[in-house]
Amino acid sequence: MDRNAPIGVFDSGVGGLTVAREIMRRMPRERIIYFGDTARLPYGSKSQDTVLRYSRQIIRFLMTKQVKAIVIACNTASAYALTAMERELDIPIIGVIRAGAKTAVEVTRNGKIGVIGTEATINSGIYADVMRQMRPDIQVTGKSCPLFVPLVEEGLLHDSVTDEIASRYLSVLKGRFVDTLVMGCTHYPLIRSTLGRLMGEDVVLVNPAYETSVELKRLLEDKALTCTLEAAPGEKYRFYVSDLAEKFTAFATSILPEEVKETEKIHIEEY
Ligand code: DGL
Repeated sequence: MDRNAPIGVFDSGVGGLTVAREIMRRMPRERIIYFGDTARLPYGSKSQDTVLRYSRQIIRFLMTKQVKAIVIACNTASAYALTAMERELDIPIIGVIRAGAKTAVEVTRNGKIGVIGTEATINSGIYADVMRQMRPDIQVTGKSCPLFVPLVEEGLLHDSVTDEIASRYLSVLKGRFVDTLVMGCTHYPLIRSTLGRLMGEDVVLVNPAYETSVELKRLLEDKALTCTLEAAPGEKYRFYVSDLAEKFTAFATSILPEEVKETEKIHIEEY
């Protein structure tokens, strides 16, 4: 395996850029091939079979780019497809759930953890399962927040509408006295300040995107797969989508540390 090969990162759309951003910050030398499935999102309201089929196609596409490792940046796809894909692939693959769950279990003081995510992620119960394997006495309250993704995609990051909806969603978690909240969806770190303000300063917010970049770095180091070459400017990051390339480029430029010049649209159903 070529240690200077790129890392493949994928999501249902733009949200996984919050994970790509953390990888860029933590491992500035690494090359990234990012795929956003903008034609077929949202994944959060789809069945496991569908999300697994989509994930397989995307991984087949990423493998054509000779990636050395794959990060499933989407919580929903991590919940539904990671276990199957681990069995099918012979390169390292990680999702975003384990790292976020582990940190939450480590930081909680009262053993009461809240998890917010898409309907699929919350209904899968995966965060609670992983946390209970680590610490059986942990109490986990999950709450799906389906309106957060469209609010973020509309750019309503600091808006009274987002505040109103968030306070309704979060009231059940406040009622359970959680002291730790996992932002279990790619988009939620972008409304972190709202979530933090409404939960109160005693509640620790866990960002799986950040924790995944820490886990990825450790994994690449353990397998001697960290990049040793500096890629030429403009060569480091490549972006692909299944639809709406220009819209993706604008969103990516607004949240990534450097301007995204180009996004290529591909026909993902062919893979
Ligand atoms: N990326 C998805 C996740 O993290 C959110 C958007 C969607 O539902 O596709 O679960």
